[in-house]
Amino acid sequence: MFPRNYWYVAAWADEVRRQEMLRRTICDEPVVLYRREDGRPAALEDRCCHRHMPLSDGRIRGDNVECLYHGLTYDPTGACIRVPSQTQIPPDARVRSYPVAERYGWVWIWMGEPALADPAAIEDFHWMDHPDWRAKGERLAVDANYMLLVDNLLDLTHLQFVHPTTLGTEAISGNPIKTERIGDGVRVTRWIMDSPAPPFFQKAGGFAPDENVDRWQIIDFTPPGFVRLDVGAAKAGTGAPEGDRSQGITMRNLNAITPETDGTTHYFWAQAHDFRIDDPTVTELLFRQVHTAFLEDLAVLKAQQANIDAFGEPPQVDFNQDAGGLQARRALQRILDAEANAGGLRARA
Ligand code: FES
Ligand SMILES: [Fe+2]
Repeated sequence: MFPRNYWYVAAWADEVRRQEMLRRTICDEPVVLYRREDGRPAALEDRCCHRHMPLSDGRIRGDNVECLYHGLTYDPTGACIRVPSQTQIPPDARVRSYPVAERYGWVWIWMGEPALADPAAIEDFHWMDHPDWRAKGERLAVDANYMLLVDNLLDLTHLQFVHPTTLGTEAISGNPIKTERIGDGVRVTRWIMDSPAPPFFQKAGGFAPDENVDRWQIIDFTPPGFVRLDVGAAKAGTGAPEGDRSQGITMRNLNAITPETDGTTHYFWAQAHDFRIDDPTVTELLFRQVHTAFLEDLAVLKAQQANIDAFGEPPQVDFNQDAGGLQARRALQRILDAEANAGGLRARA
């Protein structure tokens, strides 16, 4: 079960090309993504209504898709507009079409009720293409349920154990977190005051190994799977907690987490920075450092999921550090319940 009435990131814009179809499973539904002649993306259910052939194996004809098997042709609304063997097209000859939008370098897809799809509800990721910022990211395939990744990003005490060569320092887990509920979302804030910068920040911000910093991690989760981290560090005692970040560096770690199946996830992420934006080697360095760390996370998530499967979803013990993840799970449960209720009401109407 996944929240349906949300925009999810389906692909990086350059993954969806003209004259090529991309099959991608999103929230357990195989979807085919392609571009119309004018460049706008389109998304259809990836299954021909005739004999279930994946449409992504077929051909693009102008704005339309022709099935490989017997040539049924669908327009971007999902309506069948051609049946080679007859002139009459039955009205139920159609496939589902999904609302799509392109923003921040990503193609977004609406997996719920099409009438409710409002592009204004797309989550804010303006750091991806704002002129004052530079960002670089990628898509990673995660062998785990998407909520394990949300947990991971909302509890950064793992940095010192999983990422000692990049993001971690000894000082993280000893500093308390503050957890706030903001609408349907959750904010987790941690300040690590007057302690050495992690290796990544030494490289990015030019902090010396023996120079202490005040480091912040402000994590914003919004359902169903968006996590934006405001992270950085400034020379210790220069006023960063009061808002003066001029003696340090600020970054955004931007995460759009899209469920593929119950046990697999599409992980779209990017690292953005607002300092030394004219030096592409800085953008690359930040990307590489975080990429290295995220591969370490992927190994953890895969091992967790394998054990969850092997032990049949055993109970787990929670600690203070889990406050953010637990609130996120509660928010998602509220959404799933509300969507199930609304579906029940519609079915009875
Ligand atoms: S399966 Fe697609 S046309 Fe027959
Ligand atoms: Fe991590």
